Order: sequence, then C-alpha cells, then structure tokens
Amino acid sequence: MNFYVMTLFPEMIEQGLNTSIIGRAMEKDLLSLKAINIRDYTLDKHKRVDDYPYGGGAGMLMTVEPVLRTYEAVRADIAERTGKSERPRVVYLTPWGHTFTQKMAKELAQEENLVFLCGHYEGIDERALEEVATDFVSIGDYVLTGGELPAMVMIDAISRLIPGVLNNEDSAEYESFTGNLLEHPQYTRPEEYNGKRVPDVLLSGHHAKIEAWRKEQSIERTKKFRPDLLEKM
Ligand code: ADE
Repeated sequence: MNFYVMTLFPEMIEQGLNTSIIGRAMEKDLLSLKAINIRDYTLDKHKRVDDYPYGGGAGMLMTVEPVLRTYEAVRADIAERTGKSERPRVVYLTPWGHTFTQKMAKELAQEENLVFLCGHYEGIDERALEEVATDFVSIGDYVLTGGELPAMVMIDAISRLIPGVLNNEDSAEYESFTGNLLEHPQYTRPEEYNGKRVPDVLLSGHHAKIEAWRKEQSIERTKKFRPDLLEKM
C-alpha cells in the first residue's frame, strides 16, 4: 500500500507515523508513506495558500491552485512508480464526511494507492474538492484544527489490516468491532496482584469454558458501553 498525504504540515504526518508498528512496516516495504507539502505547489510569490471566503464569514480557505498542483504531482508519482494512470482514491478529511468505521478501513485496505487531503483553516475551496476528492470522511462528531490527525488515525487503522503488518495475522480480526461485540477483558502475569486475582477459568486450561466466558464477558461489556451494537445484531 502506498499512502500519500497532501498537507500543509508534512512533518506532523512523518513524525507521527514513523515509529512502532507502522514504522516497522515501512522499513519492511509493506507500506510506503509520502507527505507532500501543498505550500511547495503554490505559484504565489509570497507562498500563500489561503484567502478570504467569498460572501464573507470567519476564517480563511485554502485556495484551489496549490491543491490541484499537489494532486497532479501525486498522480505523476503514482504513474512513475506503478505505470498506472487511473485516478487514485482521494480521501478528504472533514467533520461533515461519512463517519470512519472498521468496515471502511477494510475496504480502503484493498487499494494499492491511497491519497489523503488535509484541510486547514476553515476548509478548502469547493472547486478543488470537486476535482480531486472521491471520499469524504470524518473520524467523529467533533471539530479538530486540521485533517492531519484524522489522516493519521485512518492510516493506522488501514495499515494494521495489511497482511504482514501485524506479527500475528489473526490478531487483526480478533478484536473489538469484529462481529459487533466488544473485546472481553484480558489478563497477563502475575496471577495475583495486590490481592486481585486473574479469573480462575482462564487458568483452567479448559478451552471451551474459556471461550464461553469470553463470549459472555464480551456481551456484558457491549451491553454496558455500546448497547447500540447489540441492537444492530
Ligand atoms: N477535520 C476537522 N475535524 C475533523 C474530523 N472530526 N474528522 C475529519 N476531519 C476533520
């Protein structure tokens, strides 16, 4: 998977994603990540990338030209790397987009190239979005200062679904949000800590009983924290 992030803050993306599991996957060439600075593509002599909104209103908007020129540079890079000239999927991060879900992560993990467009200020001139964006995604009902953190959240969630990125292949599936039940409680050594013991069933070695306990705990936890998921089942 080749990720491209069009942003005014490329160092934020690079620094945020070059460690831990995602960093290791990049070293192993399972993933690549290029953060492209939109400001590098402005033709304005003062390097401006924003302007006042027509019709008035608070804040500034990112202008069309630098975004389109950045997009062309990304497409040229994809064509050079892969020999393919079709339009890549471009995710625009915005609070008014479709809410990001595990299902969406699975679907996007099938792409060979995936481009993210991060807005700043009050957003981006609509004409740029019409030209480049194919998907509009929000990571939740709250407003952040820009699309960088949402892009990083999405890249993390998508990357761990790519074969080889996690050490243990089946752990990508065996977690919260698979099958609409939340994950059961988990324990590791020691067996007792400050008088708190690991549940006996987990030490029993009885696999069927352990599975039954885990399922019951998952249901209890889902009832408590996310009853809406149970209603969907
Ligand atoms: N940009 C600002 N807030 C956002 C959010 N919640 N999701 C995606 N992009 C955003």
